Amino acid sequence: MSEDVLSLRKSLRQQRNHLHPNDRKIFDLSINRTLLKSGILLRLPRIASYLANDGEPALDFFLINSAEMHCQHYLPTLYQQQLKFAAYSWGDTLKNNRFNIPEPEFKQFFSAKLLDMILVPLVGFDAQGHRIGMGGGFYDRTLNFMLNPACKRKPLLIGIAYNIQRVQIITPQRWDIPLDAIITELGLTCFSNRARLLLRTS
Ligand SMILES: Nc1ncnc2c1ncn2[C@@H]1O[C@H](COP(=O)(O)OP(=O)(O)OP(=O)(O)O)[C@@H](O)[C@H]1O
Ligand SMILES: [Mg+2]
Repeated sequence: MSEDVLSLRKSLRQQRNHLHPNDRKIFDLSINRTLLKSGILLRLPRIASYLANDGEPALDFFLINSAEMHCQHYLPTLYQQQLKFAAYSWGDTLKNNRFNIPEPEFKQFFSAKLLDMILVPLVGFDAQGHRIGMGGGFYDRTLNFMLNPACKRKPLLIGIAYNIQRVQIITPQRWDIPLDAIITELGLTCFSNRARLLLRTS
């Protein structure tokens, strides 16, 4: 891991954590509204999201307001060096994992292969849809199957971030899985044709 990426990750995390609470509230609402009107709930009903940690945009409004719709939410849970996904409804009992991140307590694990869409929290992103995460490689390892050209059924990967996390260029590593789209408080940007077909941008 290059020093540059390590210091970039540190500075982006600091900026994300120091966002003014009023701005955060406004930005989160905008991100959640973009998600709710994107049409994904109808087209991609098995959705993995996350509970905000380390200053990540909170998706609570989206989780609460889509509860009555035709979709099933999942949260990532640690499983060895990878992630498995556990069904989650707002208010379900949670238990902290070894990184102190809450996970559904009573879990039945599902593979990422069974999901229609994964909302991935980003530490950094660029205009090509390359991403930097927290540095554990958990999402990359979990989604490695998507790099196989024979893989036909892939979850749509949507990065979630604040616009301050945009960087000039991220040089992807061979294990990095590219994003289909990104949502920030400024709206939705699609990188793949599949995302352009499936998501409503306005
Ligand atoms: N498919 C893989 N198989 C084995 N190791 C992997 C794989 N993907 C990533 N890694 C390892 O994980 C480490 C961290 O990867 P990287 O810097 O891309 O993290 P990240 O993308 O920020 O984290 P995350 O995927 O959790 O968001 C790398 O050093 C890499 O060796
Ligand atoms: Mg990576």
